[in-house]
Amino acid sequence: MKVTIARFNPETDAEPHQETYEVAVRKGARVLNVLDAVRDEIDPSISYRHCCRGGQCGSCAVRVNGEPALACMQEAKEGDLIEPLNLPLIRDLVTDIAPAIAQMAWLNAGDCLNCSHVSAEDIEEISPLRECIECFSCLSSCPAVGASTYAGPTAIRQQRRLNLDPRDHADRVEEAVAKGLFSCTTCHKCVEVCPKGIETPRKAVEKLRALAVSRGLALPAHKSLAALIESTGRSVERKEPTFLERVPDVIEPEGTVRATVGFFVGCMFNARVVQPALDAMEVLKRNGIRVIIPKTQVCCGSPLIRTGFTGFIPELQERNIKAFVDAGVDTVLTMCAGCGSTLKNDYQTPFRVADITEFLVELGFEEPAKVAGTYTYHDPCHLLRGQHISEQPRVLLKSVAEKFVDMSPRCCGAGGGVKSGQPEEAALIGAVRAEMVKETGADYIVTVCPFCEFHLHQVTGLPVKNIASLMLEGYRKKDC
Ligand code: SF4
Ligand code: SF4
Ligand code: FES
Repeated sequence: MKVTIARFNPETDAEPHQETYEVAVRKGARVLNVLDAVRDEIDPSISYRHCCRGGQCGSCAVRVNGEPALACMQEAKEGDLIEPLNLPLIRDLVTDIAPAIAQMAWLNAGDCLNCSHVSAEDIEEISPLRECIECFSCLSSCPAVGASTYAGPTAIRQQRRLNLDPRDHADRVEEAVAKGLFSCTTCHKCVEVCPKGIETPRKAVEKLRALAVSRGLALPAHKSLAALIESTGRSVERKEPTFLERVPDVIEPEGTVRATVGFFVGCMFNARVVQPALDAMEVLKRNGIRVIIPKTQVCCGSPLIRTGFTGFIPELQERNIKAFVDAGVDTVLTMCAGCGSTLKNDYQTPFRVADITEFLVELGFEEPAKVAGTYTYHDPCHLLRGQHISEQPRVLLKSVAEKFVDMSPRCCGAGGGVKSGQPEEAALIGAVRAEMVKETGADYIVTVCPFCEFHLHQVTGLPVKNIASLMLEGYRKKDC
């Protein structure tokens, strides 16, 4: 097997470089077996860490083809590129994890470790947070680290783990705020790369934010947004006629009715960027889909849940569920990644929720004409990791774009209340994404999230189109 390994000797090299090695390993060999073979057969000086060899100690974490992985668990493949985690480099694949460990809080039992009893309920709640093996894969791939003073997901996970422990006497909420609790974009990259599947954003970040809010530690911009939602049921102020004011209750399709769905518009498409939602109605019509639009729907609550203002959520959930149950639909479409993720993950709905791209691909859609230009696709985190949808938008985009250049996913920085609460951080995360967009050479970016749409346009200066608007452009061209 041939693999390429990043090498760096601080005594002789100014920069890391890559070397390609060919070694004989058994079928099914792990990345760690390949590294052992390189050390034993070719270069005994190669440096890498390992200990348990069984996915339990976390010491062997490296990047394989750009993504963090435990070398002892990941099957090696021909042509793999093995690099160190994105942490301060010591030598070859060995990084300096001491600063990360220094950010981790330890149990502070005060004068007495046995004074407080840890109940079965406490253990049940702590459990999903204490599986961490400190591999620091999450820290290595968190977009907020480096764009702010954020201590990172492992440190915040530990804050919540201790916050839940009745034996702990320190103020973990205040400490978490000081460690950058409000810097997390809730992109869920840390969950994707965690070998133990720890859900830090939901189980630690959002819970600590709710506690911070209850203690008056919310960011000013988040407070204003929460007040707006509580007074109007919407996170965006009405400046002109909204989507819901402009469309009928039912939109009948052209020709045969192939499906009937409800449509959840979301605050941004309802009042700030209305045209893509109107375009989506045309696309659904064209594809034989009857759309029912209950006018009593309100904000899904995503901006509140992500920023810790959870008090008003039950009312929003009840109003939205009632609106669609009364409409008698069994499927509700969304076209905002954040709304879709919230309805799917934070609600218990008696109806199915589907993203518009998911539904169109599943039902089958009329091919549009090709539209001129080079297009790339930005995966909204709340669609990719919140709903596990990545293929369907690409299927639609490839059907309409004259030229499509793919781009690997990365958070743009707009989510989790970061753009409203900490705009400088959102701009720095966005700048990294803008570089990636530039490398594709695309003239246009396409996405399925109004927040990403807005932010990407700001950081790249490029036009950003919603997939529904582009599809409609293709249909109009076909009709000419
Ligand atoms: S959700 Fe994203 S920004 Fe937040 S801690 Fe995880 S990787 Fe970092
Ligand atoms: S939370 Fe997961 S990814 Fe992060 S250090 Fe712990 S085990 Fe590794
Ligand atoms: S060597 Fe312990 S997790 Fe890989």
